[in-house]
Amino acid sequence: MAIAANYKITETLNQTSYLVNGKLKEWTGKTSKVYSTISSTEKYAPTLLGTIPDMGEPEANEALNAALGAYNKGQGTWPTMQVKDRLDCMKVFVEKMKAKREGIVKLLMWEIGKSLPDSQKEFDRTVEYIYDTIEDCKQLDRDSAKFQKQDGVYAHIKRGPLGVVLCLAPYNYPLNETFALLIPAIIMGNTTIFKPAKHGVLLIAPLLEAFQSSFPKGVVNILFGRGRAVAGPIMKTGKVDVLALIGNSKSANALQNQHPKSNRLRLVLGLEAKNPAIILPDADLTLTIEECLSGTLSFNGQRCTALKVVYAHENIVDGFNAQFAKRVDALKFGNPWEDGVKLTPLPEPGKPDYIQELIDDAVSKGAKILNKKGGKRFDNYIWPAVLYPVTKDMRVYQEEQFGPVIPVVPFSDIEEPLNDMAESNYGQQVSLFGKDVYALAPLIDSLVNLVCRVNLNSSCQRGPDVYPFTGRKDSAQSTLSVHDALRSFSIRTFVAFKDNELNNETIEKLLETKLSNFVSTDYIL
Ligand code: G3H
Repeated sequence: MAIAANYKITETLNQTSYLVNGKLKEWTGKTSKVYSTISSTEKYAPTLLGTIPDMGEPEANEALNAALGAYNKGQGTWPTMQVKDRLDCMKVFVEKMKAKREGIVKLLMWEIGKSLPDSQKEFDRTVEYIYDTIEDCKQLDRDSAKFQKQDGVYAHIKRGPLGVVLCLAPYNYPLNETFALLIPAIIMGNTTIFKPAKHGVLLIAPLLEAFQSSFPKGVVNILFGRGRAVAGPIMKTGKVDVLALIGNSKSANALQNQHPKSNRLRLVLGLEAKNPAIILPDADLTLTIEECLSGTLSFNGQRCTALKVVYAHENIVDGFNAQFAKRVDALKFGNPWEDGVKLTPLPEPGKPDYIQELIDDAVSKGAKILNKKGGKRFDNYIWPAVLYPVTKDMRVYQEEQFGPVIPVVPFSDIEEPLNDMAESNYGQQVSLFGKDVYALAPLIDSLVNLVCRVNLNSSCQRGPDVYPFTGRKDSAQSTLSVHDALRSFSIRTFVAFKDNELNNETIEKLLETKLSNFVSTDYIL
């Protein structure tokens, strides 16, 4: 199908600058090509979108030194600035960002194959996240604009920054998840180094100037290149205070292990998951199928929160399978800007082969592909296969597929999925489908201790962003949300003094003269 003029790639975007110490520096070294798996021509060929700098250790150190300089051992302008002034910088940034919506949405579609409505949603949700974070930060500041007294000791307790934060983001939400780390880290007074994901990298380019002109030099530093080449050298210096990463536990562990003093490193991690759907015998099938469809296949299952294994009770499994398989085949596949598309090209060129391997392995061990189109290959896609019955020896049961394939496991006793979840390395969320409160109650009470969100008759998801987003075991460390992220990227720090004349007078003078940015009971309205 012809590509509408406003979505066509008319010229390549060659990113020749990077942001370090407040300067957009020209890059003259090696570059890497960025391709989309979406074809611009009738005969299939990946589309060249542009190039990015291929950076290494010298640039990594340059960015680290800029961030350390801006933090300046806690004495920098940014970490000592009044919260209100930091929020003003963030407001300038978000206004500039909003002007880039169209270009970023277009790149989201080309770089990662996200549908137009979902790409728009990712952009708008991120802007909203920034506004909500600003409001929450004001509330945090208001709540701490006071003194408390215990056992004759006064305390003025606030939240302070941690230092230098290294942010690494995933390809499935290259804007939203990145900013859900970066924005709270910046707002709390930390200085940052950020490297965009491998796919979804060019879409950061239009924002470089906005970052540069909105914040003091060195507060935000943006590098390009491979994680190993850029992030590794930064970690091994031991000068990073927080590793903020959304990705997988393998990369998180590798980076964490490079830090020479792991006790000094705070981790804010959103990692892999294998969220199960558990369908009880009395589940409302129509609703369950709807939720399982979006849960397993939104953005082709490339979400950490996707439903990645479906447990269906033996009394209901046949009915579920028959209807679900039909619904999967009725979904529309196409390029992201086409009307009504639900399935879109996979951004990783090797993904269809990987999914194929999972299907072949499951079939060789006794599973069947229930839907007619299941496993059908395209140049940049493989149709989601509904596999049944899936058993524990199959790779599709064991691995986080992060793509379009749906394993269905039958069960007769609820202890089976519960035991599997307890044994699993993951612990993010679960979806529980059923109506009988006598069955649901004990299940909910156990499940909340195995994962961190039990979704009742609803698919798993991160949002709304004010709710805590976290996980157990290999699925996360620290909690994210508009509210929680401000805490994850800061530490409680305070001024204390014994109640005597000298101290009371001194504090009064400090408040009167407004000489300290920390000792202040001013409210931000
Ligand atoms: O990849 C994991 C994302 O945080 C999922 O977010 O549930 O809003 O798609 P979502």
